[in-house]
Amino acid sequence: MCGIIGINSNKSVSATIINSLKKLEYRGYDSAGIATLSNGLINEVKSEGRVDNLEKNSIVQNMEGNIGIGHVRWATHGLPNSINAHPHSSQNVSVVHNGIIENSTLLKKFLLARGHKFKSQTDTEVIVHLITENLKTENIIDSIKKTLKALHGSFALGIIFKDQPDLIVGARRGSPLAVGYGPNENYLGSDSYALKSMTNKITYLNDGEFCIVKKNHVEFFNDDGVKINKKVLELSSEEEKYDKGEYKHFMAKEIEEQPLTIKNGIDEYIDTANNDINIYNIPWKRDEISSITLVGCGTAYHSCLMAKYWFEELTSLDVNVDIASEFRYKKNRFKKDNLYVFVSQSGETADTYAALDLCNKNNMKTCAVVNVIESSIARDSEFVLPIHCGIEIGVASTKAFLGQILILYILALKLGLLRGDLEKKEFSKKLSDLKNLPKLIEETLLIDNKIQNISYTFNEAKGSMFLGRGFSYPIALEGALKLKELSYIHAEGYPAGEMKHGPLALIEEGMPVVVLAPRDNYYKKTISNMQEVIARGAKVLLITNKSKDEIVSENIWETIEVESTNEDLLPFLLTIPLQKLAYYSALKKGFDIDKPRNLAKSVTVE
Ligand code: AGP
Repeated sequence: MCGIIGINSNKSVSATIINSLKKLEYRGYDSAGIATLSNGLINEVKSEGRVDNLEKNSIVQNMEGNIGIGHVRWATHGLPNSINAHPHSSQNVSVVHNGIIENSTLLKKFLLARGHKFKSQTDTEVIVHLITENLKTENIIDSIKKTLKALHGSFALGIIFKDQPDLIVGARRGSPLAVGYGPNENYLGSDSYALKSMTNKITYLNDGEFCIVKKNHVEFFNDDGVKINKKVLELSSEEEKYDKGEYKHFMAKEIEEQPLTIKNGIDEYIDTANNDINIYNIPWKRDEISSITLVGCGTAYHSCLMAKYWFEELTSLDVNVDIASEFRYKKNRFKKDNLYVFVSQSGETADTYAALDLCNKNNMKTCAVVNVIESSIARDSEFVLPIHCGIEIGVASTKAFLGQILILYILALKLGLLRGDLEKKEFSKKLSDLKNLPKLIEETLLIDNKIQNISYTFNEAKGSMFLGRGFSYPIALEGALKLKELSYIHAEGYPAGEMKHGPLALIEEGMPVVVLAPRDNYYKKTISNMQEVIARGAKVLLITNKSKDEIVSENIWETIEVESTNEDLLPFLLTIPLQKLAYYSALKKGFDIDKPRNLAKSVTVE
């Protein structure tokens, strides 16, 4: 989860590199660095923390050179400090890297024995010295080829050379890398988002490929060093001038955008004229799919757990859910009639991409539910269902979570209808209810001041629990994750019915506990579980939906009632207060809401 940029131009590149790095900070922001080639020398400057710190450096402000590379880091090997920041350079070579070199210890021993001196604790530095070593006997293409073959693990690389003043080398295995084409200059970048402000003409490298980027042309090679031709893609020209507007944080904006983004998703997929869902191009026949496996990480995993309830409700399909980092290593029983659905906002999450790659290697049916349609997961899936949420900058996912579960719900409805598991009449009713969802979300967003006050109690607590049954359980998990990643407070999502099997011991006087108890068929059971924690001193925040029936319980600390609607749609509404709870808790603590510590928006390493 680091960000890479390289620029080869007929004019000075340092300012453009710095600006590009700022766009890449969502991929990692614990340190940053830049290296350019000028007057036959490699000039390298690195700094801890944000790109702003790098930009303030007077050397950077006067940095010359028409060729350069830059990097923002999320630390994997070595502390997040300026020594371990990228680029890493020898006298002859400078490298920026995203990924993990798994045999770096062995390679370091080999290189130390040949007199190479190391400055950092990183795995990346072995690449610098290995290329330097190979350049002693090979030309540039063969030294690159030889170096890449010696590396085990994953990498996206940008490399400049003291003795090659007209080129940048890029290489990819397991971590995304793209080439961009500009006027009298060409680019290397981790993804299209980094390059979009400079060009909409992009080529993506595939695993094992490397390239030589010159200012007026680019050459591509396969892992044997044989020249290959690659397609130039034109990215969607709608350049989203995405900024915070009047909001304090991107996350605040993205929470409030949800009525619009959900409406966009509904408009994209609901065929009102035919009262149908316009997923007409499913590449498989009805009887070719008898089960589904949903795969994702973090919030995307919670989307999968949520979808399982809908698929089981609306179709006769068997449904499994896997965390991608587990799926990719466990003994999988691949079945021809199983559809593998990969859920990912960024479409670049390494674990999810590796799980997809495993399915592709076994010729499985694959579908991607993503927000970034030019992403690796989208490109390598047979079938793509975009969630149409627009760019999501806040590291803590909000609108993308609602977008993911919307598209998964729509897919479940469509498959239910196609398979005859869902009557057309019921299908139509659900579509009609769905069209009201944006308005209901809008009304639920108005619950704001109360949430803000409640959030302060969570800040004072050692930890909290989020409880739910049925489809409220995945929402409880998501609410707990939001609080953890934004306020750094321990919070645990748990099935309400499971508390008595151990975690009830955690409950102590004044502990805040969120209980999600919509008026569904679990309501009474969940209210009983709620009373069990109240009896042990918990301060319960009950989140339910409006109803004419009174809530039959005393000593509830606070109650939030979301709008009532078709039960299928309650998860969307229950999520909103939890997003706000986490947001206001972090706001009160003064934490960096859009870039929480230790995290990154796209986790492109395992
Ligand atoms: C969400 O709040 C988290 N930042 C994180 O769990 C995220 O959902 C996860 O890393 C998966 O990312 P993806 O959706 O881009 O694959």
